[in-house]
Parts: sequence; C-alpha cells; structure tokens
Amino acid sequence: MDREFWLSRWEEGRIGFHQGEVHPDLRTFLDQWLDESHHRILVPLCGKSVDIPFLAGRGHEVAGVEIAPAAVVAFHDEQRLHPFVDEDGPFRVFTSPGITVFCGDFFDLDPEICGTFDRVWDRAALVALDAPRRARYVARLRELLRPGAQVLLNRFTYDQAIMDGPPWSVSDDEVETLWAGADIQLLQRVDAIDQVHFRELGFEEWIVTTQLITLPG
Ligand SMILES: C[S@@+](CC[C@H](N)C(=O)[O-])C[C@H]1O[C@@H](n2cnc3c(N)ncnc32)[C@H](O)[C@@H]1O
Repeated sequence: MDREFWLSRWEEGRIGFHQGEVHPDLRTFLDQWLDESHHRILVPLCGKSVDIPFLAGRGHEVAGVEIAPAAVVAFHDEQRLHPFVDEDGPFRVFTSPGITVFCGDFFDLDPEICGTFDRVWDRAALVALDAPRRARYVARLRELLRPGAQVLLNRFTYDQAIMDGPPWSVSDDEVETLWAGADIQLLQRVDAIDQVHFRELGFEEWIVTTQLITLPG
C-alpha cells in the first residue's frame, strides 16, 4: 500500500485498526518480552497507538514511526504531549520525555537517524504491508536491531482468497522465512472470528498469533 492510501485513510478517519485501550496481548506477554532492565523499544507503523505511552510509562525509551502526519498530530493531542519538533533528513521528529515519533516512511529509517533498538512491538505493522514490502520491512528492521533483540509479533492468518489486505494474512512459513536465523517462540494462537464479526464476509476463521522472535546474541 502506498503513502497516499494511508494518508487518505487517516484524513477520512477510516482507522478501524486503532484501539483505544492497551493491546490485551501486549499486557499478557509483557513480562515475558521485557525484563527488569531499561529497553529501547521500536513501535513501527505506530498510528496513534496508546501502547506507546503505556510502554514509556514503565520507564522504557519508546520510538514510533508513522507515515501519516494526521496520525502523529492526533497521537500528541490525545496524549496531551507538547513535543519538541525538529527535522532529521526525510523525517519530522517529535520528541517528548521517553517518546520519540518519527513522522515519515519507515523504509527511510536508519540507525544514524534513530539509533538501534533491543525490542520491537509489531502490532498491525507486518500485516499492514503487502508481501514484497514485508520482506523489505523485516530486512530494514534487522538493520535497526541489536544482537539478541526481541520482537513481540501479533499477526493475522485468514483465507486471503476472500479478501485482499490490509490487513494481509501472514502464514507461519512466511514468518519463519522472514525471520530465518532467529528463535521463534509461539506464545498464543486464537481463533478470533467471533470477536471480529467477519463470518458475514465469508470467513470461517480468523487466527491471531502472538510470537516472540529472538535474534541471535
Ligand atoms: C494497520 S495501521 C496500525 C497502526 C498501529 N500499529 C496500531 O496498532 O494501531 C498501519 C499504520 O502504518 C502506517 N504506515 C503504513 N505504511 C507506512 C510506512 N511505510 N512508514 C510508516 N508508517 C506507515 C499507516 O499510516 C498506519 O497508521
């Protein structure tokens, strides 16, 4: 999906993916993903996720990257933040205590701009991208991650013949290929068909999988 697609979704308020509450799977697996130490956490394709202040509030340094200026403005308004705003290359950078939001294209991010991270919360990021972009996305993430970094991944798997993404269906095999060389631990797999009310669209199942991906140390 291109930039214009996401910009128009934000401008028209078509943001059904946004959740007003901290993601329940993040809460459930938080202690498995984060130990007592201080982490630098990347939230790619972050929208205006309330998970960002939740993680920052626990003492971690959190960076989001989001292409839609409308989302970035809404995030700061809703969180009542008054960021320092600066330009860095292709990004407009919004800095608040414990939180940095890079407004621009994730694929332009590099360690010289944002440093490196030891944790990633991937909720509705991998599945927001079509297959060619998913490979580029993981390749870029690997450049931004430190040895031993851990990605908490929340993704969907469904019958792609019924619907095109986003969100796209991402299979176990694809995750194993994308994250080859990493340890991939299954934390939870649930059929959420009755929560998402997609039976009327013809789906028989809507699988939500949460995985903990650990890069070699
Ligand atoms: C499905 S939404 C998920 C947002 C957020 N992760 C959440 O859980 O609410 C995907 C987000 O990625 C943003 N996005 C799409 N492509 C992007 C890119 N190349 N760089 C940065 N953000 C992008 C969209 O504007 C949108 O806000």
